[in-house]
Amino acid sequence: MVSSSNGDYDWAKEVKEIDETKAGVKGLVDTGITNIPKIFVHPKTSFETHPPPPTPAHGSDLPTIDFQGLRSGGEGRRVVVEEIRKAAQEWGFFRIVNHSIPVETMDAMLAAVKRFHELPHHEKAAFYTTDQRRSVKFNSNLPERENELGCWRDILSFLFYDDQLEPEEIPSACREQVQEYVKHVIQLREVMAELLSEALGLRSDYLSSMECMKSEALACLYYPKCPEPHKTFGNKSHSDTTFLTLLMQDTIGGLQILHDAQWVDVPPVRGALIANVGDLLQIISNDKFISVEHRVVAQAVGPRISVASFFTPSRKAMAKAFGPIKELVSEESPAVYREVMFGEYIEFYKTKFQGSTSALPHFKIQSL
Ligand code: OGA
Ligand code: NI
Repeated sequence: MVSSSNGDYDWAKEVKEIDETKAGVKGLVDTGITNIPKIFVHPKTSFETHPPPPTPAHGSDLPTIDFQGLRSGGEGRRVVVEEIRKAAQEWGFFRIVNHSIPVETMDAMLAAVKRFHELPHHEKAAFYTTDQRRSVKFNSNLPERENELGCWRDILSFLFYDDQLEPEEIPSACREQVQEYVKHVIQLREVMAELLSEALGLRSDYLSSMECMKSEALACLYYPKCPEPHKTFGNKSHSDTTFLTLLMQDTIGGLQILHDAQWVDVPPVRGALIANVGDLLQIISNDKFISVEHRVVAQAVGPRISVASFFTPSRKAMAKAFGPIKELVSEESPAVYREVMFGEYIEFYKTKFQGSTSALPHFKIQSL
């Protein structure tokens, strides 16, 4: 970590001190602080609401799609596919109900995530690492550069490459529940891959055979209550660099998405999941589906627990470039993006200049 100071404020020292506790943001809260450290303080401009749209927002409620329709055969499926097409195109986000992941599995997973984050310090600290290559890591994603800011959350994350992760690597506090949840999430991903393919007018097995969503990063997020919630974010505005994300949240709320230039709340609905289009799906869909900015506000209440399943390419597909799907490109609808490998996209995203919330524009074909 490069050391640098700005007046008498040394951001690197502040990061190092928090990092060395291996106790995350929750550790800070547990010490009883009433002022949040400066590395978490976001500029006032990040809180300004976007200017109101010129015309009233068309329905400001996130679309809810009922997968029950899939069980009633042909017509029911056509309706679901059409709803997904519309939501992915206009919102980039939608809520799914009756999706087949049992509510007990979801509740057990949320409870297990809370249990891990509330383990005694020495047990949890054993998993603390900032080494991105590790497949199991606990940290707070603290800034690595002077122009970055921290967010008010802790993360336990798991990388399931090609759907695989050695069970022994998973902390015993949540092992069983993580395995059970991931098993269901993988089944749902397969359904989603078919439905999204159909919604793009492609063969049902199109996305699945591309293997673009065959690995998953599972982020088990813990947003502690914050003594100065108006100064920071649980997660600052960003779009997901994935193909697809499936999110489960507890009952606290705090997720907001940018729709028609306004921040729209995504209130929790028990048993529901949130699906969102990631940047790479926007690229391969040639802008037919949109990857939308979203954020999590910091709150005086907490903790809030959420679990995000980020779907990314298989090991095999990591070696290949993704660009607009040829069936979706025509004279009237020319390719908007150049081809990019997933690793290259992530690398660019991580090193992107400050202030940008999406790396997508960088991969646009310039002549457009
Ligand atoms: C994310 C994210 C939302 C949430 O981790 O990328 O947007 O509600 N999380 O935790
Ligand atoms: Ni996100």
